[in-house]
Amino acid sequence: MKILTKDWVIGESLNFQDYLKVGGYKALRKVLKKMKSTEVVAELKKSKLQGRGGAGFSLGSKWEIVATKKCDQKYFICNLDESEPGNFKDKSLGENSPHQILEGMIIGAYAVGASKAFLYINGTFAMAGQKIEQAIEDCYQNNLLGKNILASKFDLELEIFYGAGAYICGEESALINSLEGKRGEPRLKPPYPCDSGLFRKPTVVNNAETLANVAWIIENGAVEFAKIGKPDSPGTKLFSVDGAVERPGLYELTMDNTIEQIIRTAGGVKEGFEIQFIQVGGSSGRIVPRFLLSEIPSYSRGAVIPIGSGAILAVSANEDLKKILLSWINFFQRESCGKCVPCREGTFRLKSIIERLVSGDFDQNDRQDLHKLIWTLDNTTFCPLGKFSVVALKDVIRYKMIKEF
Ligand SMILES: Cc1cc2nc3c(=O)[nH]c(=O)nc-3n(C[C@H](O)[C@H](O)[C@H](O)COP(=O)(O)O)c2cc1C
Ligand code: SF4
Repeated sequence: MKILTKDWVIGESLNFQDYLKVGGYKALRKVLKKMKSTEVVAELKKSKLQGRGGAGFSLGSKWEIVATKKCDQKYFICNLDESEPGNFKDKSLGENSPHQILEGMIIGAYAVGASKAFLYINGTFAMAGQKIEQAIEDCYQNNLLGKNILASKFDLELEIFYGAGAYICGEESALINSLEGKRGEPRLKPPYPCDSGLFRKPTVVNNAETLANVAWIIENGAVEFAKIGKPDSPGTKLFSVDGAVERPGLYELTMDNTIEQIIRTAGGVKEGFEIQFIQVGGSSGRIVPRFLLSEIPSYSRGAVIPIGSGAILAVSANEDLKKILLSWINFFQRESCGKCVPCREGTFRLKSIIERLVSGDFDQNDRQDLHKLIWTLDNTTFCPLGKFSVVALKDVIRYKMIKEF
């Protein structure tokens, strides 16, 4: 069962004509000719589509909040920042099927009453950026963007915006600051972007993969979508699978697959290798030891393994866990935006401790400091990046994977 990649051809990108041939923009046509904006929101809500950017928030509920605001200007933003190591699903969507994302954005903007939309892309994604720019141009030329779209009363201006590739700019409020030309630092929440977002106006921020599902749901109906996968986490998911597997790559699977099944789809564990653990969700993801491989990662509350962005890293028993820990903390220390002390100083201190662990100089003082720092990063930072920096480390301690801890 495929929704997002069903028309992809490996090595090729679906251009405007290709996209029309596989039924592209039919959903938009249906929306503009036959559906009121409230009906679009209700349909998406019924589908139970959850955001694929990590947190799994209901798309329908988010759209409803913005749609019900009475206001002169609203904004619609697609988040294609994807700067966390191990993730390459949104970039692949942008490269292979840019119109699928744009169609979701245009439908979304209509549903919530936004007349201005931005696609925020990681500035290092040159090929995806090029494909998206061409797709936007094709939309303007074919009356799918601009004034009176498809002869309706709906107008929408849509622009691509290149970020500088900072991880924090994937966080929605930092992304909005960056779009406004400010430093890419998160804002205090609440207010959330739905209430006060870009230029303090009600704003939807949705992940690129989330939006790529929208046209399918409009065409096939929310009921059909809700039947796929699991009732509390419906649909399919793009998994970026990497590491010690036979065929690393991007896989679209229904949301009822266990981690073991996902690994099997990628050709299974690489011959001659043994799995040490799987990490689900990128560098900020949970560690899955071998005895938990039969778990289904999901967006459900209280899920044993949260699915996050869907990155799956298979780490072989040959890898040195201490060096992996160092590479994780190195990433978070480098990407800490510096706005709050616990994260700016905490990730720096943690990195020094892990460096001593790698060089064999770790002592009892380091052990005590390590536990204090984990608590600080987990509980006191301004935004979730600080918390993210210790998710995997906490699992390493939980599963007693390093004797010095
Ligand atoms: C540090 C950090 C980085 C994030 N990076 C991304 C990202 O690259 N792409 C993304 O879609 N969401 C990212 N998010 C989540 C966004 O803040 C936001 O929840 C998401 O774009 C909402 O879209 P969705 O509801 O469709 O998932 C990040 C969050 C945090 C805290
Ligand atoms: S937790 Fe880190 S990334 Fe978030 S505001 Fe503080 S310094 Fe910046």
